[in-house]
Amino acid sequence: MKTLRTVADVRAALTGPRQAGALIGLVPTMGGFHDGHLALIRRARAECDVVVVSLFVNPTQFNDARDLEAYPRDEARDTRLADGCGVDFLFAPPPEEVYPVGFATTVSVAGITETLEGAMRGRSHFDGVATVVAKLLNIVGPGVAYFGQKDAQQAVVIRRLVADLNFPVRVEVCPTVREPDGLAMSSRNLHLHGEERRRAAGLHRALRAIQDEATAGQREPAAARERGLAALSDAGIDPEYLELVSPSTLAPVEVIDGHTLAVVAARVGGTRLIDNLLITSNGAASAASQHEPTNARATGGAGAQDGRT
Ligand code: PAF
Repeated sequence: MKTLRTVADVRAALTGPRQAGALIGLVPTMGGFHDGHLALIRRARAECDVVVVSLFVNPTQFNDARDLEAYPRDEARDTRLADGCGVDFLFAPPPEEVYPVGFATTVSVAGITETLEGAMRGRSHFDGVATVVAKLLNIVGPGVAYFGQKDAQQAVVIRRLVADLNFPVRVEVCPTVREPDGLAMSSRNLHLHGEERRRAAGLHRALRAIQDEATAGQREPAAARERGLAALSDAGIDPEYLELVSPSTLAPVEVIDGHTLAVVAARVGGTRLIDNLLITSNGAASAASQHEPTNARATGGAGAQDGRT
């Protein structure tokens, strides 16, 4: 695996494979690798001729300077893990390569960015995501780009961006990888310890409770949401939001039929967590939405073993 620092080096490295007709896969990341990242990378490795992983903690998508400061950074460890997954190129640029002096352009996706995470974190969050993803797609020029379902709203925003700006790339959204107790893997889980770590699994329990209601025949979103709120309350969690929305538009649903996305965000101690579950009205698990809790150690990913989840 080769680590590249500049846009020019990425373009030079990919010219040959591109001319030879290679399928290039891009996995955009901010590092702090856990089994969720490794699942995206392995999927790219299985499907593409050339795999590029970008590692860039994008300052413009953080609305809280302390959150940016606390974001885990361990390039040596991430490099080892990416190399172990057979990545060809790690693109790890310094901030000034991505945002040089004079940088003045923002890519902004309207509508779907204004609710949920957009409402909580402010407009600038998804502007930052859309801008950096547009840049990464232009720099790498992949045939396929891989994102995680855990950031469900981000995935919807990126699909919109790619469609609206005609990026010639297929977007693959891969299932959430979970700890054995259901907690969705996230770089932020690193900050959860003891009692907080135990309580954090309450987010997934709340989503499961909503699915249980739907499986039992509940079609009324407000009633199903009450069950979810009760599960959060049992875990001592006061959510920023818990909503049942359309998976494609993120608009609130009026009835649970077909597919409905249950989305939740909450602070557990000082750590902000998000999660989601595709709720089916017949209770059938959807492969597009979820992995059931897996034993992270059994998957062979080092990330879960050191608590960096
Ligand atoms: O999901 C992430 O890690 C980031 O939001 C992304 C897509 C790499 C953009 O910085």
